[in-house]
Amino acid sequence: MYSNKSEQPRRGRSFDSMNIGLSFEEKHLNNEMNKVAFPKIDENKDNKTDNKTDNKTASTERSRAAIVFSLKNEVGGLVKALKLFQENHVNLVHIESRKSKRRNSEFEIFVDCDSNHEQLNEIIQLLKSHVNVVDMDNSTLREEDVDMENVPWFPKKISDLDKCANRVLMYGSDLDADHPGFKDNVYRKRRKYFADLAMGYRHGDPIPRIEFTEEEVRTWGVVFRELNKLYPTHACREYLKNLPLLTKHCQYREDNIPQLEDVSRFLRERTGFTIRPVAGYLSPRDFLAGLAFRLFHCTQYVRHSSDPLYTPEPDTCHELLGHVPLLAEPSFAQFSQEIGLASLGASDDSVQKLATCYFFTVEFGLCKQEGKLRAYGAGLLSSISELKHALSGNARITPFDPNVTCNQECLITTFQDVYFVSDSFEEAKVKMREFAKTIKRPFTVRYNPYTQSVDVLKDTMSINSVVEELRHELDIVGDALSRLNKQLGV
Ligand SMILES: [Fe+2]
Repeated sequence: MYSNKSEQPRRGRSFDSMNIGLSFEEKHLNNEMNKVAFPKIDENKDNKTDNKTDNKTASTERSRAAIVFSLKNEVGGLVKALKLFQENHVNLVHIESRKSKRRNSEFEIFVDCDSNHEQLNEIIQLLKSHVNVVDMDNSTLREEDVDMENVPWFPKKISDLDKCANRVLMYGSDLDADHPGFKDNVYRKRRKYFADLAMGYRHGDPIPRIEFTEEEVRTWGVVFRELNKLYPTHACREYLKNLPLLTKHCQYREDNIPQLEDVSRFLRERTGFTIRPVAGYLSPRDFLAGLAFRLFHCTQYVRHSSDPLYTPEPDTCHELLGHVPLLAEPSFAQFSQEIGLASLGASDDSVQKLATCYFFTVEFGLCKQEGKLRAYGAGLLSSISELKHALSGNARITPFDPNVTCNQECLITTFQDVYFVSDSFEEAKVKMREFAKTIKRPFTVRYNPYTQSVDVLKDTMSINSVVEELRHELDIVGDALSRLNKQLGV
């Protein structure tokens, strides 16, 4: 859960358990290779390079360089061009022909070479007499050269979340004066216990198992029982498919509050998502950053027992019943992660827009299944009154469109003015993916599941390495198809 409460006035009492998630509840949250185009060849480049040659190291330093050229209409043109590389001792790492982006009927040659500035300049001059040089990368797009100065810090690997997971903005161990548990010293002490556990957690630790009190189990039981009456007619099919699995593997029962550690292990096997305990609200930026690593920040405390169907903040009932069943769904997990990846290093304004899209999908999203509206948003699936309202026929429903949704106000003390509906997570994902491309960043990122880190793609080297991986993946697909064809006798 996340919030930016530090910038906003205290929210008034909302209805029942629902808006928990509402955190985001915050209004204020209201509040082909990624364009690393090679620079055009500069005819005055020699002069510029001359200036650089003052620095001998720079001119002789070997690095990768890419050149794109088209062949002149003559026999043996390609052989002549390649011979130039050989004669000048320029090592070709990769070569391919590809359709011209400029002239449909033409093909261009892309070469990736291991070179230095001097060699590159020479080869370019020589090439010009045999081919039409279209573009080149003179190694100016090295990682350190891309402007990262104004990019906000973001975690590059999952353990980096240790640096931001404790930047809790509200609640945590302190409660506001209008919190149901404000005057309950026993409850406050219990909340401090949970906050301390979360604050002491580090990546890789097992999530502490909780011995829940009878009172806490009773509170959970009321929420569990009442919501389960609605799920068959209100929850989406993916939710209904996964809930029984959680009963089986994580002891989801009216008389038992599931342990986050068990749930985290279950999710890891299903979708690679894991859970990290958190003491209270995080900022949208810190919360979304977790999603980029398929990590979901979860509260572990239970709402105050005085009103089981109301909580002014997300609690473990909201997390376990609202979020977890869908995090066990691969397509939804992917959708969630992509929002997180888009947020890394984005501007405050972009993060806010992504958080608003998150709010109206992951928290309050609807979908259409067999012609009927169903809920997949956790804020709905953990709120009896709003779940009923959203599907009552009286709520305003409109198609999910990130460009529109990102400007919608997130309401805190009332039901949402509008709910956004998608045909499927797949459809929502495609739309979010297109929206993410409009976010201004001098790079893009790619999640590396082997190392649970993000690769920052901002230079030709990093992009080439992804291309190599994709080529390998395609080889696997090609091999599989060819074996299938043999079996089918095609
Ligand atoms: Fe939530």
